[in-house]
Amino acid sequence: MLVKMNEISTLTSLGRSINHDSSLRQTTGEAKYIDDITTPKNTLHLALVLSSSACGKITKIEKSAALSITGVHHILTYDDIPGENKIGPIIKDEPALAERRVQYIGQPIAVVIADTHNLAQKAAKLVKVLINDDEAPIFELNESVAKNSLVMPKMILKKGNAEDKFELSKYKLNGEINIGGQDHFYLEGQISLAIPEEEDQLTIWSSTQHPTEVQHCVSTILGIPQSKITSKVRRLGGGFGGKESQASIIASITALCSWFTRKPTKLRLTRKDDMLATGKRHDFKSIYKVGFNSNGKIEGLIVDLLSRAGNVADLSGPVMTRAMTHIDNCYSLKNILINGFCCKTNTVSNTAFRGFGGPQGIITIETIIDEIARKLGKPIEEIRDINSYSIKNGLKTPYGQTVLDSQRYGEIWDEVTSLSEYNKRKNDVKLFNNKQEKIGSPLRKGISSTLIKFGISFNKTELNQAGALVHVYTDGSIRLGHGGTEMGQGLFVKVAQVVADIFSVKIDRIELAPTTTSEVPNTSATAASSGSDINGMAAYDAATKIKKRMSKVAADHFEVPINEVKFEDELIKCRNKTITFTELAQLTWSKRVSLSSTGFYRTPKIHWDQSTMKGKPFFYFTWGASISEVVIDTFTGESNVLSSSIVQDCGSSMNPKIDIGQIEGAFIQGLGWLTCEELYWNNKGRLMTTGPSTYKIPGSRDMPNSLKVKLLENSPNIEKTIFRSKAVGEPPLMLAISVWLAIRDAVNNYRKDGLVKLNAPATPEEILKAINF
Ligand code: MTE
Ligand code: HPA
Ligand code: MOS
Repeated sequence: MLVKMNEISTLTSLGRSINHDSSLRQTTGEAKYIDDITTPKNTLHLALVLSSSACGKITKIEKSAALSITGVHHILTYDDIPGENKIGPIIKDEPALAERRVQYIGQPIAVVIADTHNLAQKAAKLVKVLINDDEAPIFELNESVAKNSLVMPKMILKKGNAEDKFELSKYKLNGEINIGGQDHFYLEGQISLAIPEEEDQLTIWSSTQHPTEVQHCVSTILGIPQSKITSKVRRLGGGFGGKESQASIIASITALCSWFTRKPTKLRLTRKDDMLATGKRHDFKSIYKVGFNSNGKIEGLIVDLLSRAGNVADLSGPVMTRAMTHIDNCYSLKNILINGFCCKTNTVSNTAFRGFGGPQGIITIETIIDEIARKLGKPIEEIRDINSYSIKNGLKTPYGQTVLDSQRYGEIWDEVTSLSEYNKRKNDVKLFNNKQEKIGSPLRKGISSTLIKFGISFNKTELNQAGALVHVYTDGSIRLGHGGTEMGQGLFVKVAQVVADIFSVKIDRIELAPTTTSEVPNTSATAASSGSDINGMAAYDAATKIKKRMSKVAADHFEVPINEVKFEDELIKCRNKTITFTELAQLTWSKRVSLSSTGFYRTPKIHWDQSTMKGKPFFYFTWGASISEVVIDTFTGESNVLSSSIVQDCGSSMNPKIDIGQIEGAFIQGLGWLTCEELYWNNKGRLMTTGPSTYKIPGSRDMPNSLKVKLLENSPNIEKTIFRSKAVGEPPLMLAISVWLAIRDAVNNYRKDGLVKLNAPATPEEILKAINF
């Protein structure tokens, strides 16, 4: 369906591949991160004292050895918190510093205040915390469910009668999939800088995706009004969800120390402390039963989803909700029962991570579809098609939302198969494997595909709002602020493109302001891939209001009707008179008309009932498809991605270059999650993978030998989003599932019995296990 662009008529920036505003400065090292901010001379530095026990009662904290070092000033604990030691994005169940008990190895117990970062680190290691291990810790998800150790009640999403349909089905399968977690491994670790100002006011710089939450948590910890606190960030060196809620803990502890000493304080976590103390992607265990007919049509599906919430709730509820609302992926499932268990374990509290439960939900159904295909000896695509959302199969999701653009499923599949030359490749893989078998080689190739449907909007409806603040100055320069944070994803340049187009001016007129709660208050996290959707619209609103006022001034001045005032290419044309944008800014000022405006946006048409798990949680869906070919060595278990082809639906892309960068980045991050990034805890509950030497993120040699990325063309969003674009930040991560399915295919091409049991990530060990079980 072709839809006319909405109100934006004079397009100059939008839709063009404009460079990221900081790309040059980031390349030369000039771009400032929080650790680059010149700190006042008297700044004190902090380090955390972390728990070395997974569970127990704190009996004593011995500080004297640490405090005897010159330059070490104080060691604070929860006792020193003047406000409430209760933070947490939704449920306020999280202490910033442990109180009487510890709940995981790595939990912050105390904070050392010293003259330098190194001194603080050294002193932190000398603080002895005596812990009485009076209870047995829980590490296993099954044990957690058996003991009803959950951070919130079990969630249920139900449609039709899955149990009966399963029993009546001709074919039945059941199984279990273990899906690993993932560390965010942002290049810039968690960091915060607090600067006391006059009258108990405090400025807090934080590498956060959510400045408002930092402000709120600092206010709670200090017991002072939110109005006294200004939270700020210009850019993050990556967030990936890891700084959506967890940055607030770091900021709160930093603020506490600044409050206590009345001096500026800075807390920069070492990589090791960051990996120990802050949450990751939830690892999941999916236990399923599926009934289907001889065509592969799913008749009844029952899934228990177990997630590792860790010691407190954090965002585990919404993450589980997204997993449960993404189990359907592209398939119309009429009889389905999903039980969601957010397991309380004695491990770090897991949190948001690109995809936010979507990846775990989608890999579950994709594995089930693959199992059905192997059971019936049919290609995976045939099982997909017969179950896909379509007018014939039905368009209602299990939670009640209608899939409006289901034709994308077919369109995007056609595009990706031609981009990858799928049929030829499939044949080549077969020939290759036959030959390897004949010559006794251990190599086997595999090829597979993935189709993704991902819901856009925060699944907590109230979070879908954004604000902006635009000022036009009398020299015609423009300052743009909004509630979104820049973490590398290109949000700032996209929103600047919106404002440039409204005034029809060059983008370099627009100055990008750091994100701050003093300019745009009460914001949501930049998350759920909705940053440019909602902040773009808020900036659109602000700039449009100013443009209307300026138009009125021009109309009055030139005595023409307002509809004859046109902003075009840096000029304002009023019938036969023309002035520059700068001249009109001056004229507007001289007429005493405001050149500044706030803007606001709330996502329309969405609603959600968490208790019944029904509603329309998403404004729209995005679609994507990928095909990957891999080779595995059945002797060593190593795998290599030979090629990946991707087609992603970005609606009318606001900035194709930025979007392609996001697709490549997300895909490789997904590849890491599914192949090499393995978190390992020992039997005491200590995370042993705490740095790049033990935790392997993908490097340049892990890139597919060939990576082709294409945006779906002529596909504006059917909903009125900014420029009819679609969100892009998270969805392509899940396209890496094609790599995982291709590895399964390669394993089967070796075994040839249709029995593939593979856990994620598919490390060499896991691949060998799958080959030999
Ligand atoms: N891209 C970069 N370079 N760095 C990041 O931290 N975070 C991802 C994605 N892309 C991230 C990124 C995540 S988890 C989300 S939700 C979105 O960006 C957030 O930004 P957006 O809503 O503006 O797309
Ligand atoms: N994504 C990211 N963060 C969130 C969400 C979501 O869907 N819901 C609540 N917080
Ligand atoms: Mo992204 S996980 O929603 O920050």
